[in-house]
Amino acid sequence: MIDSAVTVEMRHLTRAFGSIVAVRDLNLTIAKGEVFGLLGPNGSGKTTTIRMLCGLIAPSEGTAIVAGVDVVKSPDLIKERIGYMSQRFGLYEDLTVAENMDFFAGIYGLEGPSRRGRIAEVVSFLGLNRRLYQLAGTLSGGWKQRLGLACALMHRPPVLFLDEPTAGVDPAARKGFWITISALAGQGTTVIVTTHYMDEAGRCGRIALMSQGHLIALGTAGEVAKQVGGKDLEDAFIILQERDEQEQEA
Ligand SMILES: Nc1ncnc2c1ncn2[C@@H]1O[C@H](COP(=O)(O)OP(=O)(O)OP(=O)(O)O)[C@@H](O)[C@H]1O
Ligand SMILES: [Mg+2]
Repeated sequence: MIDSAVTVEMRHLTRAFGSIVAVRDLNLTIAKGEVFGLLGPNGSGKTTTIRMLCGLIAPSEGTAIVAGVDVVKSPDLIKERIGYMSQRFGLYEDLTVAENMDFFAGIYGLEGPSRRGRIAEVVSFLGLNRRLYQLAGTLSGGWKQRLGLACALMHRPPVLFLDEPTAGVDPAARKGFWITISALAGQGTTVIVTTHYMDEAGRCGRIALMSQGHLIALGTAGEVAKQVGGKDLEDAFIILQERDEQEQEA
């Protein structure tokens, strides 16, 4: 029986690139409406995990169910059930804000009045009204991020993947962004987010801490810190990085 409260389930999810095992035997269950953080040093496998969950690359072993769809059996069905924002926000820089949104609405099959209605809703939700005719390439980092999110939300996906959504975004914009994320989660959207900022990690309900493709710790920020032997998340992260460096030297 499929548990409707579970929106993402990873089972032995594994991906190798040649001799590098980027993600190793990941088993995780994420519930509807959770804000779930993927945390870990550079190269620990966060992006590779997200790419498998979005159906962009196939697992080498194992599988995952995302919003009811098996990523191995039906990768093409996943795209309509998820929103994905990559680090570069995936925008067309030589199109205006309005044209970018219209383009994404078209990709997701929205037509006519429902297309116009949904674009208006997203514009209002993200406060994009006064930027509609500006070229995306000329927006500041914070506005690009909002537009990226607008495009990723166009088809009301139940699951949203955000890969380092706040890289290159100023503190005020980051704060606003997290308020938006909480609002989305409150509406029942499941959010899976990677970040290198510890204050942001602390805003996630649960965190999976990864290192060299392995899941090292899982739980709230406090629980994860404790599992690694740190007094807080930042401390835990430093312990983990030192451990990785020692292993690489050995
Ligand atoms: N297409 C690829 N071909 C070969 N190796 C890859 C490929 N994609 C990722 N890797 C390797 O897999 C490992 C995990 O990379 P990944 O991008 O998932 O890490 P990450 O946790 O997202 O890192 P970062 O914090 O730097 O974004 C790294 O060793 C990386 O070099
Ligand atoms: Mg990455």
